[in-house]
Amino acid sequence: MVESSDKRGNIPIHVGIVMDGNGRWAKRRFLPRVIGHQAGMKAMERVIDSAKDLGIRYLSLYAFSTENWKRSHSEVQGLMGLFRYYLKGKIDSMHRRGAKVRFVGHLDAFPDDIREIAQMAMERTKDNGDIDVIFCVNYGGRQEIVDAVNQLLVQKQVGPVTEETMRGLMYAPDVPDPDLLIRTAGELRMSNFWLWEGAYSEYYFTDVYWPDFNKAELERAIESYAGRERRYGTA
Ligand code: IPE
Ligand code: IPE
Ligand code: MG
Repeated sequence: MVESSDKRGNIPIHVGIVMDGNGRWAKRRFLPRVIGHQAGMKAMERVIDSAKDLGIRYLSLYAFSTENWKRSHSEVQGLMGLFRYYLKGKIDSMHRRGAKVRFVGHLDAFPDDIREIAQMAMERTKDNGDIDVIFCVNYGGRQEIVDAVNQLLVQKQVGPVTEETMRGLMYAPDVPDPDLLIRTAGELRMSNFWLWEGAYSEYYFTDVYWPDFNKAELERAIESYAGRERRYGTA
């Protein structure tokens, strides 16, 4: 079992966020969806700072799902352009903030230059330790489990496979399971986020669109989390 957050005044160790509602945020303003995604990137920066201030040790951000390829070509292209721009421009500031950046998901489907910048960002920030920021890109929880099974097949693992074996084959085995999973924009689902790791996560949903999410909203989510009792099946 992952370390308990109880000892830390109920600040969750790992918070995961399904950053949803960029499109609706833009639509409400009669703007193209890509402008919503741009505003979403700004919100992401703010929230990384806030998470660090609040003492969150791991922040995972669901930026692109394995299902998001189903969107229009122009939206996918727009998102790629933003990833490229954001990554290039923000590595330094992430580094200065003491953030250790990593990417989980099938980055191989992304253009070469984006993969290279992502690699650079991970390399540049690998010794930082204030906060780990995990970008989930082309991530799917089902794919992650399928990948783990395929690794077992390649290793020709015989004998019983335990939960620990499986956990060790997930994309970020050193990252504790998410204590708190937040989803913005009113949808009450996780859309394939942290399927294995989120088995005992606490959920928090808000109607706020992602571009409007801020420190106060994050504090509200943590307050809700702090008031809960996690039982893990005990009486
Ligand atoms: C989340 O916002 C960003 C991504 C999935 C990349 P959406 O684009 O899903 O926004 P809505 O749900 O259409 O409002
Ligand atoms: C989930 O949001 C994926 C990300 C935020 C990256 P979606 O907007 O794609 O999810 P659905 O389609 O509403 O389930
Ligand atoms: Mg959405």
